[in-house]
Amino acid sequence: MADVDWERLRSGARAMTERSYAPYSEVRVGAAALCADGSIVTGCNVENASTGIGVCAEVTLASSMVAAGGGRLVALAVVAGDGEPIPPCGRCRQFLYEFGGAELLVETSSGVVTLGDLLPDAFGPGDVADRAG
Ligand code: THU
Repeated sequence: MADVDWERLRSGARAMTERSYAPYSEVRVGAAALCADGSIVTGCNVENASTGIGVCAEVTLASSMVAAGGGRLVALAVVAGDGEPIPPCGRCRQFLYEFGGAELLVETSSGVVTLGDLLPDAFGPGDVADRAG
């Protein structure tokens, strides 16, 4: 398992819950991840008056990594406003798979697991490449 400072990721995620925009659900979510180059990326959920178009913390995190020049996610912490881990939703599991693959480490309330554990037999970039054309 990669050498990961989980406390740093957890505290980064907790800090991001303060920036969360969640006036509708009032569920603040923050996320922080270690990237393969050693950098840390963060995100928070951003809701909208048009309920269905809000985005999760994991989506803003991965998007911000891409916007900063790209990279690969290695380890991820996601917490709610109470500071405790919350499980990535199904859409986020798929979104994260693109940028971390099955090896991405995810801290859950029952310990560190891989994204492959959370999303077995995932559909990914390779499946598209194999079937295109
Ligand atoms: N949420 C996340 O940010 N990440 C998840 O993986 C689960 C759900 C957000 C979406 C919404 O703003 C709030 O939590 C309540 O569902």
